Amino acid sequence: MNAIEEILQAAHDASSNAYAPYSSYHVGAALLLDDGSIITGSNFENASYGLSLCAETVAIASANSQSKLKHITAIALAGGKPDHSGKAILDEKASTPCGRCRQIIKEVSDVTNIDTPIYCLHVGGYSRYTLSEILPDAFGPKNLA
Ligand code: THU
Repeated sequence: MNAIEEILQAAHDASSNAYAPYSSYHVGAALLLDDGSIITGSNFENASYGLSLCAETVAIASANSQSKLKHITAIALAGGKPDHSGKAILDEKASTPCGRCRQIIKEVSDVTNIDTPIYCLHVGGYSRYTLSEILPDAFGPKNLA
């Protein structure tokens, strides 16, 4: 298995850990670091719905808490309704990062100086995007300089 396949599988596995009693939509995210290691996250919902955290945000905040933000080289995502074990049942079309997560990934992209690749799992394969493709002309730290 290559590194991209590994993070896609890690993201899919992490979807089992989603806490999503309100939407019943399970998402897992996995970050590939430059040393080959992987950090995962799962969506974490709240009874006050708007406070819910997406899987990508959880994974990126976790990387930051380990001082690993600048080492993120790629992100993988897997989402869907859970099967009996809680793992996302993939759709024909990949689930892509929400708008807020795109902006969160923008921060990663600026810290790493990489147009972060985002791999989104679907039935039978994955779609690859880069942050600038899915969030063109983004607001970022340069705007504040
Ligand atoms: N969700 C994510 O975890 N990542 C995204 O990029 C899209 C949405 C979560 C939020 C919520 O818990 C559930 O999926 C349904 O929107």
